[in-house]
Amino acid sequence: MRTPETGRGWQRVTIWMVVLAALGLSLLITSEAKSYEPTEASPKTHVYMVVFDQMPVVTYNGKILGLRGTAKYFSERWRKTHKRAHVSDLVKKYNAYLIKEQDKILNEFFGFEGCEKVYRYTHLVNGVALSLTDDEAERLAEHPRVERVQKSYRVYPSTVHTPDYLNLHKGVWSQFGGPVGAGENMIIGIVDTGIDPTHPSFTTRGQKLYGPLRKYRGRCDVAKEFPRGSCNGKIIGARFFNAAIKKGGFNASIHFASPLDGEGHGTHTASIAAGNYGVPVIMNGANFGKASGVAPRSRIAVYKALYRHIGGFIPDVIAACDQAVADGVDILSLSLGPNSPPSGSSTTFLNVLDIALLNAVKANVLVVQAAGNEGPYPKTVTSFSPWVLSVAAGVDDRTFRNTMVLGNRQIIKGTGIAPPTRGGGLYRLILAQDAVQGRGDPLLSPSECQSPKLYNNLLVRGKILICTYTFDFVYGGSTMQQLVKTAKSLGAAGVTVVVDSDSSGQKFEPVPLAIPVIVLPTSADSNILLSYYNRFTKKDRKGKILTFGATARIGNGQTITYTRSAQRVALFSSRGPNVKDFNFNEADILKPNIMAPGYMIWGAWTPIGTSQAAFAGQRFAMISGTSMATPHVAGLAALLKWKYPTWSPSALVSAMTTTADVADRFGRPLQAQSPSPDGSPLLQTATPFDMGGGALNIHAAMNPGLIFETGYLDYVRFLCSLSTPREVLGATKMSCPRLAGKPTDLNIPSITFANLVKTVYVARTVTNVAAVAEKYTISITNAPDFVVTANPAVFTIGVGRRNKQTIVFTVRATRASQASSFARITFKGSLSHVIRVPVSVVNKRLR
Ligand SMILES: *[C@@H]1O[C@H](CO)[C@@H](O)[C@H](O)[C@H]1NC(C)=O
Repeated sequence: MRTPETGRGWQRVTIWMVVLAALGLSLLITSEAKSYEPTEASPKTHVYMVVFDQMPVVTYNGKILGLRGTAKYFSERWRKTHKRAHVSDLVKKYNAYLIKEQDKILNEFFGFEGCEKVYRYTHLVNGVALSLTDDEAERLAEHPRVERVQKSYRVYPSTVHTPDYLNLHKGVWSQFGGPVGAGENMIIGIVDTGIDPTHPSFTTRGQKLYGPLRKYRGRCDVAKEFPRGSCNGKIIGARFFNAAIKKGGFNASIHFASPLDGEGHGTHTASIAAGNYGVPVIMNGANFGKASGVAPRSRIAVYKALYRHIGGFIPDVIAACDQAVADGVDILSLSLGPNSPPSGSSTTFLNVLDIALLNAVKANVLVVQAAGNEGPYPKTVTSFSPWVLSVAAGVDDRTFRNTMVLGNRQIIKGTGIAPPTRGGGLYRLILAQDAVQGRGDPLLSPSECQSPKLYNNLLVRGKILICTYTFDFVYGGSTMQQLVKTAKSLGAAGVTVVVDSDSSGQKFEPVPLAIPVIVLPTSADSNILLSYYNRFTKKDRKGKILTFGATARIGNGQTITYTRSAQRVALFSSRGPNVKDFNFNEADILKPNIMAPGYMIWGAWTPIGTSQAAFAGQRFAMISGTSMATPHVAGLAALLKWKYPTWSPSALVSAMTTTADVADRFGRPLQAQSPSPDGSPLLQTATPFDMGGGALNIHAAMNPGLIFETGYLDYVRFLCSLSTPREVLGATKMSCPRLAGKPTDLNIPSITFANLVKTVYVARTVTNVAAVAEKYTISITNAPDFVVTANPAVFTIGVGRRNKQTIVFTVRATRASQASSFARITFKGSLSHVIRVPVSVVNKRLR
């Protein structure tokens, strides 16, 4: 999951992922084997994706079949006019031809016995997913018409305040038709856990009519639990893909064979991208403000491929992406990823998902993907390719501070999102261990308040109970929900939660609670409370309590404070450098690309969702992850595309990443939460490997002045620069030029060297998208280990997109070093446009 479980340990998740990655699929297969009881007669099968030699539909150039004309059903002209809402006959013919060819190869290979088909792909991938034995897979890979065979692997799904934080209210939405018109008729495809169509974030009641949209060709998978009408125009289409997960763990009673979200994650991400404007967020009777999606008038197309507890399997995810692009989405939002670079191809960029996503970009669909939650360590990004916009998660400016006042008037600062103790009076304090009755329960620690049975309710009633937050909470054995239940059932006036160590305190993430609770997350504050308690609690020689003299009251923790501090990179957010293969060699491509809010984000939730204990039964949840950051960017991309319908995916990416903030409002560099020796997050200056271009700034993204454009052929050339022509031909059906070029030639708004030897020249070409001619001056901050210069450093660029300017940058190593270092190139326009390009170098050699 791309969600590091609020209040629980993302660390635990990470550990599990590492284990799963090491075992590959065997872990799953073991549990599956129990139910299937394979015998010698039926050797174990796995799902494999098989890619054939001919090009998929989006790459089709009309050359096969002897048919004439163009088959680009996503042509620019079509996009602009929307007149031809139907796939051209040629495409239909080619699609039918591919299916026939696929069957021909399979019939030839499997003969009379046939094979078990899981999926057929034609749009982004020309291939099938099949249930095969390892031996069959190996033999099929040798077939002359098979390009590659890839075993299925697992992927994991990786706001009321955010629209304000991103300044959407302050004039941005007004440029997109106001909050009730922002992103009108853009379609955001969400590949996730489905959706709760009854949620107020997606209702059309009281909203301006969502009319039919002819450019969308998708359908609505209707089921008993997802009735007709669930696709209401706001939700323009909804599908589910479970053929692969059915081979290993699908359970209809909790996973639903329909687009219904049984998890919560997909409902949450969809609401962040395009939830209705101004939906009140109410939880435990408290109003936490109003929620709005970033593009409140955009349509949501739901492609369910992830499931509760399990996450998903790549054949389902590819089927979902294939369908989304065929249906005509504008933006594809993927809050999911593998937990490590997938094996099976020579580079990460050639894995089946990334090549499918390349074809999505070819079809003019921007793909936004979560960077991963495996941070804060280097090389943990799980979104790899230059044609994908990879999103890091930022911690925004909300704090959930609260205070408690002790009987001796001392004030202790703590945290928590909960109501105050009733009235203004003081309540007696009681330590959970001092309230224990009977012999306890060997499985339950008396300090953690996990069961009312352990405690004498006569003693606890009306007092503030002191419980202890330990690593049991971090690892999920104990929960805040159980603690609240215990306190409620004992009739406590409130709860103060102390920590047993700073490192467990660091892992605490507040969730909204219905009773007065304050957490003292540092051991220093915890000790102040405990020594006060001990001083005023009289005990006899045997330790029996005579009087409870310590008192306190808990303040109101439901008023959220905004510090106006800038975003910081969240500790869990995956970091670069990007990796080019599964041996973790560094790539010459920057990842992540941008940062957006992803920490404790309010979003829609489904009451049947079970993945977040804190929000069970609720309609809203506040959760964290690069999963939450991703739909912010997808929503903003929809707004931009609405404003600039002719912009290519690379233009959208360029506009957002080159105008992102790198400093706070005082001009201080943005920071990243980084690990410190004691496990607590330490703030360090954020690098491009933490946040890419920086923190999303939608104001600036709307008017970048210059953009860096990259097209499909450039991406193919990029692949040619690091793979064999044969591999590139297999993946893209394109021939490599004789001169292979270098990965750093790709015209993207970043320059990244895994290995810089002596002096290297890098060219970049900018295009003017402003309505005026402008003079630009380039300035460069140089790193300690290398120097960058620009030629020309000053240029004037004319009006219109035909006007381009190429700049040659000289990057020279000045000191041998194996530490990453960074520079920044700034283009400053005479008419106030400013764009920035990060330069990142890992290894530097002088000779
Ligand atoms: C499916 O899920 C339900 C509800 O959790 C459970 O009771 C049932 O045992 C599960 N079935 C299988 C085959 O795992």
